[in-house]
Amino acid sequence: MAHGPGLRKALAEKFDDELKFFKGWIDKPKAVGSIVPTSSITARKMASVVDPTSGLPVLEVGPGTGVITRAILAQGVRAENLYAVEYSTDFVHHLRRLYPGVNVIEGDAFNLDATLGDKSGLTFDSVVSGVPLLNFPVAQRIAYVESLLDRIPTGRPIVQLTYGPLSPIPPGRGDYTVEHFHFVIRNIPPTQLWIYRRGAH
Ligand SMILES: C[S@@+](CC[C@H](N)C(=O)[O-])C[C@H]1O[C@@H](n2cnc3c(N)ncnc32)[C@H](O)[C@@H]1O
Repeated sequence: MAHGPGLRKALAEKFDDELKFFKGWIDKPKAVGSIVPTSSITARKMASVVDPTSGLPVLEVGPGTGVITRAILAQGVRAENLYAVEYSTDFVHHLRRLYPGVNVIEGDAFNLDATLGDKSGLTFDSVVSGVPLLNFPVAQRIAYVESLLDRIPTGRPIVQLTYGPLSPIPPGRGDYTVEHFHFVIRNIPPTQLWIYRRGAH
């Protein structure tokens, strides 16, 4: 546990993250989804699905303030092997400052071919997604998951957070399985984690 100037610096950084997040929510409530950043417990649980030994890059979508980005790096993924797609310019600048080696790409996760550009042919190990799917129509959510699954090997996961009780991606509507992964009560608001994959029927 930090104390003295270390604690003050840690608290100032945390407060700064929360302010940035709150500002993002005021500017674009539908895109940001929550008024408080994801808890570190949620972030660690989500990052635990990543396999840093696969040799493949990892895709994070909707990194926001970078809480989950930090947990993915702590999992042993090298910064240059992490691609983070974020819609908000403010968050993009913040992420580039905080994690200089990470490939932070500004753009729309619902249009990944255009957003990833010359990286759109990459195969990723797995996907960690914080995009607030409930704010988008179901057909768009399904297309989102299918497009992500096209970019990872059969059997590998997309982990998605959501604040509703049900999976934001309904089962039986495409080539994927739906698995409840975890309920994190120590998150504001409490959050459900879901996993989607192919080849696990
Ligand atoms: C609920 S927040 C999660 C943020 C992060 N976990 C944190 O704690 O800071 C959702 C994030 O998804 C981003 N986002 C929303 N729609 C997006 C889209 N279409 N493409 C890329 N990012 C998007 C928002 O800008 C926001 O940063």
